[in-house]
Amino acid sequence: MTESKVMPPDLTELKVQGTKISMITAYDYPTARLVEESGVEVVLVGDSLGNVVLGYDSTLPVTVTEQLHHVKAVRRGLKRALLVADLPYLSYHVSQEDAVRNAGRFIQEAGAEAVKLEGGSEMVPVISALLHARIPVMGHLGLTPQSINLFGGYKVQGKPKKEADRIMDNALALEQAGIFALVLEGIPWQLSQQITERLSIPTIGIGAGPYCDGQVLVFHDLIGYYPENTPRFVRQYCQAGEMIKDAVRAYCRDVRSGTFPSLKESYSVRKKTEPDQE
Ligand code: KIV
Repeated sequence: MTESKVMPPDLTELKVQGTKISMITAYDYPTARLVEESGVEVVLVGDSLGNVVLGYDSTLPVTVTEQLHHVKAVRRGLKRALLVADLPYLSYHVSQEDAVRNAGRFIQEAGAEAVKLEGGSEMVPVISALLHARIPVMGHLGLTPQSINLFGGYKVQGKPKKEADRIMDNALALEQAGIFALVLEGIPWQLSQQITERLSIPTIGIGAGPYCDGQVLVFHDLIGYYPENTPRFVRQYCQAGEMIKDAVRAYCRDVRSGTFPSLKESYSVRKKTEPDQE
């Protein structure tokens, strides 16, 4: 864990040192505070916001307005970790000008320090335009959720050699274009290992095996908020969903039985010096 403020170039330094990078998603102020205090280097406001916070069934409906609202909240909870904002679907696909304006809002209005976008060599002109506007870019290849309709669902990418070669070519093209780090999602570990060895910039894996330079998980997956349908790459470090339900059940029980609140948990007309009525 680094003690000082993390900025995009620091991630390459960590790769050179052989220090693994931990990245996690957050979508609000209290979570941002907790994850930063726990020592992560990078906080991503992912467009997984759509799935885990807004209740959509994919990331596709997430808008720039929705995403901005959450990036601003996370900004208020962070000091040290690098804040990366995911660019929502369609916010960078229509034109380069549109991409710069939308990405610029995440930097200027919301205080993000970098943006992340999905896609391979077809995104090189957009990446150049963003870099021209002084916006650091993180790439994202493999099982990119904004492409689920093209992929026909959430399917591991890069198993056939031809697909693996295409992902490798895209990784090299993105590095050449100037991205500072690359998320590899839902690909075989052998492929992410090869990409990690070929690139000078760090790779951050999710469902891409242990040989990436860092790892990222969705906060709600890691804490076991929704225990059902957990993908194999998720490690649940606690059962937060069950803990929350237990707490709320206990609260309901105490309200119904009249044991909450007690007089100790209530205000009295008596002065502080007088003994509280129990
Ligand atoms: O939206 C997201 O949370 C992401 C991570 C899973 C990398 O893109």
